[in-house]
Formats: sequence, structure tokens, C-alpha cells
Amino acid sequence: MALPSPEREQWSSRLGFVLAAAGSAIGLGNIWRFPFKAGDNGGGAFVLIYLACLVLLCVPYLFAELALGRNGKRNPVGAIRAIDARSPWPLVGGLCVVAGLAILSYYAVVAGWAVGYVLRDLVAAEAPDAVFARVIADPLWVVPLFGGFLFATAGVVAGGVRRGIERWAKILMPVLFVLLCLIIFRSVTLPGAGAGLDFYLTPDFSKVSGLVVVEALGQAFFSLSLGMGTMITYGSYLPDDENLIVSGGYVAAFDTLIALMAGLMIFPAVFAMGQNPAEGPSLVFVVLPDVFGAMPLGSFVGTLFFLLLAIAAFTSGISLLEVFVSYLVDETPWSRRAAAWGAGGLAFALGLPSALSQGAVPALSDLSWLVGDRFFGPSPGMLDVMDFLWGSVALVLSAALLSLFVGWVWGAEKALTELRSGTGHTVGRVAGPVWCAAIKYAFPITILAVLVIDLLYDVL
Ligand code: PFF
Repeated sequence: MALPSPEREQWSSRLGFVLAAAGSAIGLGNIWRFPFKAGDNGGGAFVLIYLACLVLLCVPYLFAELALGRNGKRNPVGAIRAIDARSPWPLVGGLCVVAGLAILSYYAVVAGWAVGYVLRDLVAAEAPDAVFARVIADPLWVVPLFGGFLFATAGVVAGGVRRGIERWAKILMPVLFVLLCLIIFRSVTLPGAGAGLDFYLTPDFSKVSGLVVVEALGQAFFSLSLGMGTMITYGSYLPDDENLIVSGGYVAAFDTLIALMAGLMIFPAVFAMGQNPAEGPSLVFVVLPDVFGAMPLGSFVGTLFFLLLAIAAFTSGISLLEVFVSYLVDETPWSRRAAAWGAGGLAFALGLPSALSQGAVPALSDLSWLVGDRFFGPSPGMLDVMDFLWGSVALVLSAALLSLFVGWVWGAEKALTELRSGTGHTVGRVAGPVWCAAIKYAFPITILAVLVIDLLYDVL
């Protein structure tokens, strides 16, 4: 077990860690991606499969990332190097660090759209989908929104672990929860909301196929911020006496609660207003503004909703930037401040093509001239390509490699010892070996299978 360097910060309390890590986990994935995936894949049936994937695979793997981080007290590269310095394994940590920044670069673009909606009253009153198409195609809107989002993210990360990340999580997470409760209340009290609740909560197993399981696993994985080194990094700021099982368990529970609540917020309103729940990614940005437009108090609720989305994205963006910044702070002479602004600037440069890919620059809106249309679907834009490469492939690949590293190179038993340190008797005699088997075999095999199936499905 490595000792923290004297100046390395730690969370001030369990609550501070849980809120910051839940802030990372709760993001666009919960509020935007989860409801539309459930809507497309059999409603309640998808929810059940999602929960099974979460409990059987993702939560055990979350514990492995937290243990790796706390053991090394370093960023993902340093945490791996603390265990095995003379092998190519630290490169896997490098993959996490790079992928974190790459994901942030386009995640911030979508987050900027949410901020744009909060400000949308400034745009002339038009049909919502017209506003959406206009905002995301207009560089004069999109680039400042995206840049502003990154600027604020870098500002918080520059403030440090306690005074930046933890402080903002403690303010923003309760606000997010209250906003969500308010909107759910409005949504379920609309006449006709019951049909949405039925759709969401009654499983339709006829829609379930192998691919739905793959979707559910991928979603559970993305939602808990796994495979990207965020949980390694956030775990590295935990003290040795912290109970990783309990605090990690809270993070997973909050993340799941908010995803389930997001469904309760969205489907009753969509059904009450006679809209289609299986609209795919446009559910949140195109269908919902229509729904808000048609319901009493709609414009107020709509503004609250996009504020909620922006807050959720913000605390996740902070964690994505923190992975890269912790690397620079641990491994180079850069100060935290310089690292945060430098990394923020890099994410901006990297994200500009994605920001300009929704109509502003035609060559970026359709990259089939560069990548063909086999892998990424017809006329893929820069943002789709980035999401596929980093948000799907790199994330899953690095998670499989990390679990192989923890299971076989570090050794699942040693990882279990780290997990038990500070946990008292939470990991029992039976649970321990089951966890080791999950990390050594079940997790890497399943996740690699998912990657292969996903890639084959895209090619065939
Ligand atoms: N968990 C976030 C969400 O659900 O939106 C997305 C995310 C954040 C993924 C941070 C990965 C990560 F490192």
C-alpha cells in the first residue's frame, strides 16, 4: 500500500466522497440515455435486466477500481505503476487518462446544448425542434456554450479536491435532487400520466433479445463512470480507514435511484402529451420540449429540466477532467491550477470538431468520406464517431484490461485485502471468493463478449 505524498489531498468525509462520486456517476447517462434506452427496449423489462447487470457485474467491478486507486494513492497510470512498474500495464492507465479527456471533449458539447436550452427563452419563440436544430448548428451559439461549460469545469477542478470538486458536489447534488422531485411531481399529476407509468414499470419481455442485454450492460457501465479511471482517481483520495464497500455501495445506489427517477419524470409526461416514447436520442432534446410546450406550467418546468440536465453533466464533466489533471499533478511538475486550465484548453481544442459537426461545417457533419458508413451508421458526424470510439470501444476495452490487471497481475486476493482494509467484516467468507471469481473471470469475459458482439453488430 502506497503512502500518499504529504501534499496529496483527501476527501473531508465519507459524505464528501459519496456526493462527488455520485456526481460523476449521475450525468447525461442517467437523465438522457437511460430513459431513451428503456423506451426503445421494452420499458420495465430493460429496467430489470439493467439492475441485474449492475448488481452482478458493475458494482463488483466498481469496488476493484476504488481499491486500485486507494492502494496506489495515485492517478490511473501511477496506481498501476505502484503495483507493476516494469511492464506495459501502466499504458492501460494511460488509455484511461486519454479517453477521459476525449469523452469530456464531446460530452461538454452535449452539456452545452442543455445550457443553451436553459437560455432558450432568449432565442425567439419557435417550435422547439426548430430551436434545437438552430442552436446546435450555429457556431455562434454552440462554441461559446461548449467553451463556457469547459471553462467552468476547469475552474472547479483548479480549486482542488475539497475546495473545488467536493464543495460543488455538496451544493449541486441536493439541488439536482430537489429539481428532479419537483418535475416528477408535475409529470405524474398530469391527466393521462398512468399510461406512462404502466409503460415504464410493466416489463414487456417480447422486446428482450441478446442485444438488449448488451445495451443494458453497456448503459450500467457508462452510468457508473467505469472504465475511465474516474473511480480509480476518486478512490485515490480516500483514506485507508474508509469502508469502500459501504461508500461504493452508496454511490451505486444513488446513481440507480436517479436513473429510475428520471424514467418516472419523463414517461408519464410523454404519454400524457401523446408523444412517442421510443424516439431514441432525440427524446430529451426534441420530444420533451414539445411535451413541456403543451403542458400547464410547461415553460417553467422545461427550464428546470434543462438546468437539471446541465448540473448533472457538470459534476460528471468535472470527474472526467480530474482524471487527466490528477495525472499531470502526480507525474509532472505542473501545479493543479496550471494542469486544470491546460487540460481544459486541450479538451476545448479536441472538442471543437464535435461542436461544429451538427451542421456548422458540412465536412464534419458527415464523415463517411473518411470512415465509410459501415461502422458508424449512415452519414456519421464527428460527435457520433467520437462517442463510438471513446464512449463505447475504449471504455469497455480499458475496463476489461483493468479487471484482468486487478484479477491476475495485482491478484484478486490482494485487491480483496485492500477492499477489506477499513471495512470491518463487510466482505464475508463467501462474498470474498465470489468477488475474486467475478473480477478474474466473469467480468473480463462478459465485457469482452459485449465488445465483440457490439462491433460485429455494427459491421454486419
Ligand atoms: N456516468 C456519466 C453519466 O452517466 O452521464 C458519464 C461518465 C462520466 C462516464 C465520467 C465516464 C466517466 F468517467
